[in-house]
Amino acid sequence: MNTQVLPVNEESIVLAAKLLQQGELVALPTETVYGIAADARNGEAVKKIFEAKGRPQDNPLIVHICGMEMLHGIVSEVPERAKKLAAAFWPGPLTMVMPRGPEVSEVTCAGLDTVGVRMPSHPVVQAVIKASGVAFAAPSANLSGKPSPTNAQDVFTDMDGRLPLILDGGECDVGVESTVISVVGEKPTLFRPCRYKLPDWRDDEAVYKKLFAILEKLKDGEVARSPGMKYKHYAPKADVTILKGSFDAYRDYIAAHAGDGVWALCFDGEEAQLPVPAISYGKEGDGISEAHNLFTVLRELDRKGAKTVYARCPLSDGVSMAVYNRLIRAAAFRVVEV
Ligand code: TXA
Ligand code: MG
Repeated sequence: MNTQVLPVNEESIVLAAKLLQQGELVALPTETVYGIAADARNGEAVKKIFEAKGRPQDNPLIVHICGMEMLHGIVSEVPERAKKLAAAFWPGPLTMVMPRGPEVSEVTCAGLDTVGVRMPSHPVVQAVIKASGVAFAAPSANLSGKPSPTNAQDVFTDMDGRLPLILDGGECDVGVESTVISVVGEKPTLFRPCRYKLPDWRDDEAVYKKLFAILEKLKDGEVARSPGMKYKHYAPKADVTILKGSFDAYRDYIAAHAGDGVWALCFDGEEAQLPVPAISYGKEGDGISEAHNLFTVLRELDRKGAKTVYARCPLSDGVSMAVYNRLIRAAAFRVVEV
């Protein structure tokens, strides 16, 4: 299959809308990362996403909408809590898992009786949903297991020949995927953190506590509440290890482990002080810049041929929680205290 990469304009939006209506795939930018879209109601179309990504069939997809009225048929009920969250956070990088409606394909939800829905704020996604009238399922546009792409070139690297169209809308702003929260049942559950905190609800303190649960690896035999939690994720080709400690201890550890293909993944301004080639993923303590750069930089390390990467440890609370959550998976949970 020939994969076209087109800049965003009226014509390419119309083409994207037509492809979606015909049950084809389109890769496009969102405010978080690039996604691969297909009509969420069309099981045959959605199957193509799983094939293109090599994604396990039991990992459900998020449905993207551009107005509250589009929830009709997608969910069977909008819980009160979801209405509050939507008012506060939509459009934006928040996915809510709700009771599944009759119109969503089984394939989209991987057979679950719930569905994750999000209303993205990126103008290109909104334009494509409006032009097509299609609520689309869209996972991140990477091959399964690789870092999510934050620009059209990274999508092309993974998806060339696997889908007909990539809309190039420049670099994504947020850089990590949306927050995923279940609003089904008594208490909300957080499955995946994004770059900001959830609203400050006194009675939902439990949400914050559960946040920490997802920073840990699942214990043997423990069932993943959100299927995506159980897979290896965001991994570049190199072996990544997070080094937790001061900058001096980090530098000394790397000096003792320097060698062919060893790279440092550090913070801004530290590059020149390190004994191996180094690349920064943002400003120390600034979760927003770290989230924005992380996946792009992990892919750059692949291009540079890095074999072993020692990463500085981000904070694990507040905005940085999303960064820590992704980096620790990229590192297959290898953390060394230095
Ligand atoms: O920012 C984003 O959310 C991006 C852009 C493209 O919108 N999409 C994205 O999709 O990251 P994906 O497929 O890479 O991640 C979706 C996550 C997975 O971990 C999946 O298991 C979880 O959401 N998920 C989806 N539906 C769910 C459900 N019904 N119950 C529990 N978890 C669900
Ligand atoms: Mg993904």
